[in-house]
This record gives sequence, structure tokens and C-alpha cells, in this order.
Amino acid sequence: MKTFERNILVTGGAGFIGSHVVRLLVRKYPDYRIVNLDKLTYAGNLANLQDVEGAPNYCFERADIADFDAVCALMRRYAIDGVIHLAAETHVDRSIRDPFPFVRTNVVGTLSLLEAARLQWEAQPEGFAGKRFYHVSTDEVYGALEVTRPDGEAPYGDALFTERTPYAPHSPYAAAKASSDHFVRAYHDTYGLPTVLTNCSNNYGPCQFPEKLIPLFINNIRNGRPLPVYGSGTQVRDWLYVLDHARAIDAVFHRGRTAETYNIGGCNEWRNIDLVRLLVRTTDRLLGRAEGASEGLITHVADRKGHDVRYAIDASKLRDELGWEPSLQFEEGIERTVAWYLENGPWLERVTSGAYRRYYEEMYGGR
Ligand code: NAD
Ligand code: DAU
Repeated sequence: MKTFERNILVTGGAGFIGSHVVRLLVRKYPDYRIVNLDKLTYAGNLANLQDVEGAPNYCFERADIADFDAVCALMRRYAIDGVIHLAAETHVDRSIRDPFPFVRTNVVGTLSLLEAARLQWEAQPEGFAGKRFYHVSTDEVYGALEVTRPDGEAPYGDALFTERTPYAPHSPYAAAKASSDHFVRAYHDTYGLPTVLTNCSNNYGPCQFPEKLIPLFINNIRNGRPLPVYGSGTQVRDWLYVLDHARAIDAVFHRGRTAETYNIGGCNEWRNIDLVRLLVRTTDRLLGRAEGASEGLITHVADRKGHDVRYAIDASKLRDELGWEPSLQFEEGIERTVAWYLENGPWLERVTSGAYRRYYEEMYGGR
């Protein structure tokens, strides 16, 4: 049997960002074994990884990260020496409706992985040497920035989230992710576990579950359904193409300094309403519809509870230390993304059917 140079456990590898990370690692590092641990919740889809499932350095294990015994057994079986932890409940609106799964997976699940890694690695003769526990987190832990330039072009304010911005999470999702970040740092400070952490802004691209703004709206434009813009639509997000996030994760996993935090962002602020108009223009054009044909689908609905007004990232630490920068212009990324969803109608039909469809109808009254 082949001996691998490294054995990396990627959690949440069947999800949106995780599947891009798994593909990048499987292809770039043929001498690493990539073990994808995923519970396959509504958001996990193995179809996202069809092109790598036969690779000799890839394997999939269905498990719940909050199942401590299962995680310990997997770490032992595969002699795991690195963890890249992405598995989470990730949708803010779901966390507002029912926070409990967010605490179970994001907090208890992260703790279970940390403890499994600590016990396993401490018991080895070399201890923590050569090991790494990497937690993939979100900029939402920092709370919200103000919009101080509402009518101008981006940036919409002077302040940016830096690695020193105090934590002030607002949604249950953000609170759970903040808690998991604290546990990761506590495991370094208490036990010396070799951890590293990143906080990233909003991702977009292929294979994102169509409950999040960009794929939801592309799918609705495609089907002539309303586009539910929360409140005024003047909230600001900093968008990053998912492959650029995956490249950053690769860089930080290999070259980031232990116990450090790195912010990742696109330096690309958009107000929701402007982004929605861009999606309408691009989708209509690629569908061969007249310009503005779907503008009338834009519908302002009740605002999200506790809606964060603005996120914007200062990613200069990552750029200066590891030389990472986003590679794609936003308009090009959006064009590619819209084209992908339009070319992958069956993927959209599959993930929006069944249990998810029932949730969607309950949530948006069948829109
Ligand atoms: P996603 O919702 O698309 O996928 C999550 C994956 O985790 C799914 O495959 C799901 O099956 C799996 N999962 C959920 N609960 C699990 C459990 N208990 N045990 C094992 N697997 C489980 O998520 P995403 O958008 O790809 O986000 C991945 C990570 O990146 C998350 O930790 C998220 O907080 C973080 N993040 C996301 C964004 C973004 O814009 N999407 C930005 C910054 C950080
Ligand atoms: O910032 C990083 C975070 O980005 C990640 O940690 C989260 O996992 C990810 O879901 C994302 O959170 P957001 O809440 O910013 O993403 P979402 O796509 O849900 O919403 C983007 C913006 O669009 C937000 O201001 C709310 C608004 N929105 C969203 C939906 C789904 C609408 O106006 N209408 C909608 O139907």
C-alpha cells in the first residue's frame, strides 16, 4: 500500500468551499492523502466532487464532526497529521430560525475535532511536531462596520476588519463561529496545539447552495421568480471568488505562522441592490433575454433580523506575509458564475428539490 507524505483530514469537503479546497489539494499534491469527512447535510453534495472521486489520493468518510468517537477512529485509521476544518452550519437565516444545530456542529463539532487531534497527536513520540490544525472561519465574527459613504462608489466607509478587530458577533451563526474560533485559540494557548485560523469574507462561485444570495437569485431569475431583497438592499458585502479562497487556504495551511490569524477578502465591496442589478443584467444577457427583462422581479421584503450593515476586509497581512492576492476581477467572476449555474440546471433542480424545497417554501412563502 502506498505511503503518503501527508494525511490531511478536510471536514465539510462536500460543501461549497470545501469541494473546491478538496479538488485543489487532490490535484496539486498527489503525494498527500486527502480524507474528506462530511455528514452530508442538505448542503453537502458529493456530486460537487465527481471529477476527483476516483483519484488514488482521495477518500470520503461520512461522519458527524460532533461524534467524538467517530472522529477519533478516523484520525487513527488514516494517521491524520493535518486538519483543515470547514464543516459547519453556514446560513445566517437558518441560524435565526433555529440556532441549535449551529451550536452542535460549529461549537461542539469543532471542540470534538480539537480534542481528537490533541489526544491523538500528544500520544505520538514526536508529539505536535509536523502537525497542523487549521480552522476556516468567517469575517462575521467581527460584527458590522458602518456605511459612512452611502451614495459614493466603494469603499463605503474608511474602517476595515483587521486581525485585531474585537469580536462582536450578531447572528447566532456568527456567535457560534466566534465561539469555535475561541476554542481553537484556547487549544493553542492551553495545550500548545499547532493551530492557525483565517476569517474570510463572502464567497461566490460554482456549487454554492442556492439559499445564499448569488445562486438563489440566479436560479430565481432563470425561473422568473421574485428576487427577495432584504430591507433597503444598501447593506454591503466584500465578495471573493471561491477558488481564490481555496488558494489562500492552501497558502495558509502550508506557510501560515502557527497560532496566527489571517483575514481573507476580495477588496471588493458591493451594495446588495447593485449586485442584484448586475446579476439581473448578466443572467438576462446569457439567457438571450432583452436587457432589463427581469428587473421587475426585484422585490423588497422585510429585513433580516439583526442584519449586519457592512463587511469589508483588510487582507494586507496575508498579502504581505504569504504573497496572496485575489486573482479574478469581480465582473469576470460573476460572468463565470452565472454561466456555470445556467449550464448546470440539473444540479440546481436536484439540490432545490425534496427537503430543501419544503424549507424554502416555508421560509419564503413559496416564492
Ligand atoms: P456549506 O454550507 O456549503 O457546506 C458545509 C459542509 O459541512 C457541507 O458539506 C455539510 O454537509 C458539512 N457539515 C455540516 N455539518 C456537519 C457535521 N456536523 N459534520 C460533518 N460535516 C458537516 O458551507 P461553505 O459555505 O462551503 O462554508 C465552509 C466553511 O467556510 C464554514 O466553516 C463557513 O463558516 C466558512 N466560511 C464560509 C464563507 C462563505 O461565504 N460561504 C465565508 C467565510 C467562511
Ligand atoms: O461574510 C462571510 C459569510 O458570508 C459566511 O460566513 C456565511 O456562511 C455566508 O452565508 C455569507 O453570509 P451572508 O449572510 O452575508 O450571505 P447571504 O448570501 O445569506 O446574504 C448576502 C447578503 O444578501 C446579506 O446582506 C443578506 C442579503 N440577502 C440574502 C438573501 C439570501 C437578501 O437580501 N436576500 C436574500 O434572499
